[in-house]
Amino acid sequence: MLPLSPPEEPVGMETIFADFERIVPDGMTHWQHRRFFAYFSANAAPVSMIAENLTAVMAAQCMLWQTSPAATEIETRMIDWMRQALGLPEGFQGVIQDTATSANVCAVLTMRERTLGWRGIDSGIAGEKQLRIYASPETHSSVDKAIRIAGIGQRNLVKVPTDGSWALDPEALRRAINADRAAGFLPAGLVLCVGGTSIGASDHVHQTIEVAREHDLYVHIDAAWAGSAMICPELRELWEGVEGADSIAFNPHKWLGAQFDCSIQFLADPEPQVRTLGIRPDYLQTLGQTEITNYPSGAPIPSTQALVPASCPRSQRPPTTHPKPYCLG
Ligand SMILES: Cc1ncc(COP(=O)(O)O)c(C=O)c1O
Repeated sequence: MLPLSPPEEPVGMETIFADFERIVPDGMTHWQHRRFFAYFSANAAPVSMIAENLTAVMAAQCMLWQTSPAATEIETRMIDWMRQALGLPEGFQGVIQDTATSANVCAVLTMRERTLGWRGIDSGIAGEKQLRIYASPETHSSVDKAIRIAGIGQRNLVKVPTDGSWALDPEALRRAINADRAAGFLPAGLVLCVGGTSIGASDHVHQTIEVAREHDLYVHIDAAWAGSAMICPELRELWEGVEGADSIAFNPHKWLGAQFDCSIQFLADPEPQVRTLGIRPDYLQTLGQTEITNYPSGAPIPSTQALVPASCPRSQRPPTTHPKPYCLG
């Protein structure tokens, strides 16, 4: 439908738009259509479309505070609003990842490095004992992908059997960890699902985290779609004990009307992920970064702290407590 080689001469906007009308609308699956029932709902609300347009007309570059202070500060505040809406305790801080898949990769890499004492990011994982990550068979395939990307190896993702309610069986988890330790493996982390993709299975968050703590495992909860439902207090029993998790991912782009992609990762303590993923080349440094929020190379504003307007002079900004990055940047 389009020429096979790029045009030699510029093409007018009218031609481009005519091409769009001729080729694109009938060649798309319209998730916004009122009779679209595939997968699950992931519609963009009108307000989100307008927000997307505002971002697009500015060609916003939001990679760090310095490039777009307002974006960083709005992100920080929105994430804390979401934390409160979901009933998560103060202290959880967050960052927008592009997808839950990315959040899962970040969490699995953090599990790996925390267990290896951060030797992996320095020397690689060859020669280390084999790591083990535990999850139920109801966990999303992006966790398998994360295990592969992290170099841990698919067979070291232990799919622990579920009980009669399709939830990971805490006793089976305990047995699996003990057997692995006896066999010389290094148990590193637990990935729980709250709202599995196929049938909505949810793990027993409280009981399984107790087992994880016995073995010092890092715990990540993938609540990509069902996390939005935790806004309703009457549903929160589905993730009772969530405050014991180290990391939680959920997608406002699934049930909350946000444009695709918008995934939030909450962290109880950003430090392990910062240490795993933070790289600060000179061009990503911001002058005075101890005084501002700067996701790739600076600090999130603690949730108890007032949001600092971009117009506020640096000398009048309150200090922040985590002068390090915790996203991929
Ligand atoms: C439970 C769960 N985790 C992760 C994902 C992946 O989400 P994303 O498309 O944001 O990577 C999905 C997507 O359907 C999901 O249902």
